Amino acid sequence: MSGQQIPSTRTLAKELGISRFPVLNAYAQLLGEGYFEGRIGSGTVVSSSLPDQPTLPGPHGGRSTRILSGPRQSSTISAQLPGVKSEPWLQGRAAFVGSQLALDHFPFNLWSQLLAFRCRRIVEASLHYGHPMGLRDLREAIVSYLRTARAVRCDAEQIMIVSGSQQALDITSRVLLDPKDRVWLEEPGYTLARYIFMMAGSRLVPVPVDQEGLDVAAGRKLCAKAKAVYVCPSHQYPLGVVMSASRRLQLLNWAQSTGAWIIEDDYDSEYRYEGAPIASLQGLDRYSRVIYIGTFSKVLFPSVRVGYVVIPTDLVDRFVAVRQAMDIFPSNLHQQVLSDFINQGHFERHIRRMRPIYHDRLNALVGSLRKDLAGTLKVLASGAGLHVTVMLKAQASDEAISRRAALQNLWLWPLSICYLGSAPRQGFILGFGGIPVDEMPRAVRRLRAALQEK
Ligand SMILES: Cc1ncc(COP(=O)(O)O)c(C=O)c1O
Repeated sequence: MSGQQIPSTRTLAKELGISRFPVLNAYAQLLGEGYFEGRIGSGTVVSSSLPDQPTLPGPHGGRSTRILSGPRQSSTISAQLPGVKSEPWLQGRAAFVGSQLALDHFPFNLWSQLLAFRCRRIVEASLHYGHPMGLRDLREAIVSYLRTARAVRCDAEQIMIVSGSQQALDITSRVLLDPKDRVWLEEPGYTLARYIFMMAGSRLVPVPVDQEGLDVAAGRKLCAKAKAVYVCPSHQYPLGVVMSASRRLQLLNWAQSTGAWIIEDDYDSEYRYEGAPIASLQGLDRYSRVIYIGTFSKVLFPSVRVGYVVIPTDLVDRFVAVRQAMDIFPSNLHQQVLSDFINQGHFERHIRRMRPIYHDRLNALVGSLRKDLAGTLKVLASGAGLHVTVMLKAQASDEAISRRAALQNLWLWPLSICYLGSAPRQGFILGFGGIPVDEMPRAVRRLRAALQEK
């Protein structure tokens, strides 16, 4: 209770049978922190400014925070996001988990050497706050790669380094969108992008995807005027289709005529195994309506957490302002290592080396699926990327199967959760990047067993 008299240090030390020093130290600390106050003539008392409500004892006798009224609640928006626990297919690292890479072929020694080189040369300048756009060297390295490999039209002033596509989407949504703005999303589409627009308070408009990619005419019918659209034109996630030239032009024309923004997610286009690479939508854009997003998560490794945004020139200032208010600027070390990796030619070599490895793994997966599961699954093979989407031919719940499979160390991302509308297709998105060719038949046999289980 506030004002309560505290025994003298001598009395308390005697009572506890300990020396007086620790008691003196404890009293000094409590006085310093404002829990005790000294009163002339009456010794030490509990501070009069402390509230009378005691904290409740916790379950193990410790203190817990007092809960004043009802259950504690997070924001309405955060309550709508699924936690990792509710998605068991995200828990493991074995067969078919999404975004798994052939890390058995990663140049570990080379990466360690580049990292060690930079670590040994830390200078004062690299310890200061950096620019919100990121390291100049890396931005220039990315520009020359994007111009030649992806036909993106940009210069270094337009490149912002971010911690992966996810942060790119977050910053982009903060720059472009107000709450309740309408956003077209591919249906089915990438759930983590959907969560970003949910967090922005957007009104989500699912627009169907067919063999030519996002159906622009259907989008116009559903919602003629939207503030933005999110698309993966080079390799739609999860169906794998490439957006046709006519759809690209329709989308650009729609954006220009309505003032909408196009957010292009070019997450894995380095890995196209058949035919020529697909050029970016940004490169076709004559109206500067495309915000282009790329990442090193697939082409290098996801924990590097480096991606980039190519920003239309007139928006750069707003992106910088938002970045400044978020995390200020990206951390230095990985940017330096990555720019060395690109500038010394290792990046191009790495892609050239990995492409046939993934191609072989893709062929092995599709071959095994067609051999063992042709009656059960329809395979949507796209000749690109690091995942294959399959659809269940019979009526069944993909989520229920995924939950059961996760108990057996088999990680099947259900297709139905990629749908926002009420008629989801049932199937799975199978990551194959981390499964060596000789292990593929066994992984598919395990998948068959999981599908047969009732
Ligand atoms: C559609 C799509 N975009 C982007 C990414 C990469 O995200 P990040 O760069 O945040 O790791 C992925 C990874 O699986 C993806 O599937």
